[in-house]
Amino acid sequence: MSSATANTVWHPHTVTRDMRAAQKHQRPALIWFTGLSGAGKSTVANALESWLYDHGHHSYLLDGDNVRHGLNKDLGFSDRDRQENIRRIGEAGKLFADAGLIALSAFISPFRADRQLVRDLFAPGEFVEVYVATPLAVCESRDPKGLYRKARKGEIRQFTGIDSPYEAPDAPEIVVDTSAASVEQCVLQIVAFLQQRGILAQTGATRGE
Ligand code: ADX
Repeated sequence: MSSATANTVWHPHTVTRDMRAAQKHQRPALIWFTGLSGAGKSTVANALESWLYDHGHHSYLLDGDNVRHGLNKDLGFSDRDRQENIRRIGEAGKLFADAGLIALSAFISPFRADRQLVRDLFAPGEFVEVYVATPLAVCESRDPKGLYRKARKGEIRQFTGIDSPYEAPDAPEIVVDTSAASVEQCVLQIVAFLQQRGILAQTGATRGE
């Protein structure tokens, strides 16, 4: 593949990232959920996005199964395809943040190096890694899509946690466990962190309150 960067020029835009963010009265970020299938990433990310919406914030949630039906429908679950999946989602998340939004993403994203590449696309503090650390045994007992059962029977190969690895984050900004806390508690834990970080205003000063 030839590099697209050799013969293209980056156009500076008149309307900047800072202007878009200021118009929305918020600081852009990418809140990156990682964890096993069935850990509760989409559920917590969804609930967090509802909280943001209810408090007057502008957001966009990139979700594993949905993105794999569109932007990434050409990708499977080999290590290489997962790497490309995460690279594209990282770039998409960066575009949403450039648009002034608080972007959220919910993907297994099993490899540390791939998550680090996404982190490196952002200014320090703008990438917030949320490790949904629900144990494998709990995820497997939930088995909402019946995929663990199929993976155990060998009907699906390269299933994360069964015959494909999951590399837990070494230093995530936040750890939540949906087997030990309610979805609402997980959301409030994340909100408190985002307020402490200054990504969200402290309670009471948020728009719409
Ligand atoms: S990732 O590893 O590339 O980050 P992603 O989050 O996009 O994965 O997709 C995971 C979802 O795809 C799972 O929740 C599950 O529904 C489905 N899936 C299908 N096959 C697999 C597999 N081999 N491993 C993991 N998830 C799979």
